[in-house]
Amino acid sequence: MAKVLITGGAGFIGSHLAEALLEDGNSVEIFDNLSTGHLSNLEAFRDRITFTEADLRDASAVSASVAGKDYVFHEAALASVPRSVKDPLASNDVNVNGTLNLLIAARDAGVRRVIYAASSSAYGNTEVSPKHEALPSNPLSPYAVTKLVGEQYCRAFYEVYGLETLSIRYFNVFGPRQDPDSPYSAVIPIFASHVLDGKSPTIHGDGEQTRDFTYVKNVVAGNMRAMAAENVRGETVNVACGGSYSVNYLFRSICDYYGSSMKAKYSDSRPGDVRDSCADISKARELLSYEPVASFEEGLKATLDWYRSLGS
Ligand code: UD1
Repeated sequence: MAKVLITGGAGFIGSHLAEALLEDGNSVEIFDNLSTGHLSNLEAFRDRITFTEADLRDASAVSASVAGKDYVFHEAALASVPRSVKDPLASNDVNVNGTLNLLIAARDAGVRRVIYAASSSAYGNTEVSPKHEALPSNPLSPYAVTKLVGEQYCRAFYEVYGLETLSIRYFNVFGPRQDPDSPYSAVIPIFASHVLDGKSPTIHGDGEQTRDFTYVKNVVAGNMRAMAAENVRGETVNVACGGSYSVNYLFRSICDYYGSSMKAKYSDSRPGDVRDSCADISKARELLSYEPVASFEEGLKATLDWYRSLGS
């Protein structure tokens, strides 16, 4: 049994990770300021975790929670490209300064490994597809910059202090509990909730941009592998499915599943939007023995059932 801390554990990905870590017999503390996470995400296992409501920017609170932990899963962040375009300072403050606080605390506490939620956005637009980790980074938005800086801090902390870190680049993660109600919600919760409510969603650009939509069970599997793997020190690795689906295809699939013949509205492309994003997952296979555990189609079905169940 290991003692683990999950920052952002009341969020969508963090809460799924918490469940899996508990199931494996680990002792889990969740650190979350509830700015975008929700206590309702913890309902099913609230009595089996320690919950600390605190902010990553509070260095002493971070140190207190990191003390005595073997592993830290750093999921807390201000997500969303458009949010970072609107308020780059806030995204930087949480995603960069917060990550630095966490790494300093982990170094000082002698934590065995920090596993960091990095982002596919770090690649930006590349001429090569699928995207592999040796490609140069080319972040297009403030959000992408902040996630890349966190990753680079993770690598530097391994190089200069010997703190074991691993950055997992997530690719458009989706699944139950992903918030549909924020102005900065991701595309799947927005489309699902709009179609269920009979309201046309807006597609930004021509809708032919593509994403490697990754069901949350896959990133949980990647994180569990990252905890157990050897020789991951300071590395960056993609965790995704290796698929490519356009936003138009996604919208049609959601409409078909819910039996809707609705048409989407179209507007200008979003500033900072990446055109195509598809992962090469061979490094994850080699380094972590990672294999996707659920396809896009299976994940989408389970997720759309979950959104429908919210209305019942
Ligand atoms: C980016 C990252 C992703 C990260 C996320 C965090 C890339 C390739 N991906 O996701 O790994 O987890 O930030 O916030 O950088 N869209 C619409 N209509 C809507 C909403 C979105 O058409 O109402 C479009 C967007 O313009 C985009 C796509 O759907 O092309 C996906 O958008 P979104 O779900 O917000 O994620 P990304 O910004 O791609």
